[in-house]
Amino acid sequence: MDLDRLAPDAARLWADVHELAELRDGAEPGWTRRVFSEPYRAARDWVAARMRDAGLAVTADPAGNLVGRLPGRHGGPPLVTGSHTDTVRGGGRFDGVVGVLGAIEVARRLRETGTRLDHDLLVVDFLGEEANPYSGTCLGSQAACGVLSAADLDRTDARGARLGDAVAGFGLDPSAMLAPTWAAGPLHGYVELHVEQGATLERAGVGVGVVTAIVGIERFLARFTGRSDHAGTRAMDDRRDALVAAAKAVLAVEREGCGAPVHAVATAGNLLVEPGADNVVPGSTVLSAEFRSVDAGWLSGVRGRVTAEIARLAAENGVEAVLDWAADNDVVPMAASVQNLAGQAADALGLTWMAFPSGAGHDAAHLAARCPAGMIFIPSRDGRSHCPEEWTDRADVAAGAHVLAATLTRMDAAPALTAG
Ligand code: GLV
Ligand code: MN
Ligand code: MN
Repeated sequence: MDLDRLAPDAARLWADVHELAELRDGAEPGWTRRVFSEPYRAARDWVAARMRDAGLAVTADPAGNLVGRLPGRHGGPPLVTGSHTDTVRGGGRFDGVVGVLGAIEVARRLRETGTRLDHDLLVVDFLGEEANPYSGTCLGSQAACGVLSAADLDRTDARGARLGDAVAGFGLDPSAMLAPTWAAGPLHGYVELHVEQGATLERAGVGVGVVTAIVGIERFLARFTGRSDHAGTRAMDDRRDALVAAAKAVLAVEREGCGAPVHAVATAGNLLVEPGADNVVPGSTVLSAEFRSVDAGWLSGVRGRVTAEIARLAAENGVEAVLDWAADNDVVPMAASVQNLAGQAADALGLTWMAFPSGAGHDAAHLAARCPAGMIFIPSRDGRSHCPEEWTDRADVAAGAHVLAATLTRMDAAPALTAG
């Protein structure tokens, strides 16, 4: 196949990225478009329209994902690509968006050049990939792949609101999210284009990343219960200060990450203090934190070590600590077959590439349980992500969409992709 034929329309793709970015929550910092918000609903309507304009037959699956189908010559197990369009609070314009809009651009170029794939191509905008307040991530890809559970829907946020109720409030049927979807049947393969969100490519001066594995992630929501008291009259040695216990837990989280034998990260990212007044000893505090590594051995011990350490620290302050743990995903290797084809695609386009693991979580981690799966990274300026400054150059976005097209055509031509 003449690869230049599938080169993206870089200006069109860039314009799409910036048009979608404007569908954001003006009351929040940066380019915020959180799952279940009204700007998110508007953005998904916009994405569905873009999919239809690209000639895709669009459905919303029971898991809440937008699925655009481009029929192939022979049908059979579909080839799947996509990513997500929700953001973190104060997030950027490229995380997830490049994978969805890049895939739509590939579909447009296939149609415009009259290129038929053998397999049906599914372009998916997965529901709510980012960490949500209910200690979960990747809602749509987990649901599509059958790993979202009724217990997950019962998870509550720091204020006691249920995930299942948030799903229903968005107009989705929570019980339908537990039903099998298109991803329950055989899939030919999955590949996702994404910004790196770190500085590996930029530091190396390399254009394309081929992802070897996705980090395993463990998270907890910890509820510290002490006793509210008058801050002026309650003596220091007679307090049950929930925030002091939580603060010690924050440092325990940091110690756990720093003490890992191979590279790992540990982050305490959110804290809710009640009643939250200068002159009241905090009676209750909710802390959330997460741990990531490709070292499955270290990660498997995190729950036990951290639970014991936080219980010990909380007891020092007469505070009760209850930790609710959730695993996002284990360490997930990407299929060697997809890695090889992505590397070959970059070579064929004259782009430099290197292979390395992802420190960020992705929908691909869940698709990998269903079919051979891989990811393509493009550079992030200064390695910044999950912040308003997140940036990827227009030429890199276009190169990423081109590599995605060239990888998809190679995957399509492979009679069967091996998982290993
Ligand atoms: C998703 O972006 C994550 O890695 O948390
Ligand atoms: Mn992402
Ligand atoms: Mn993200």
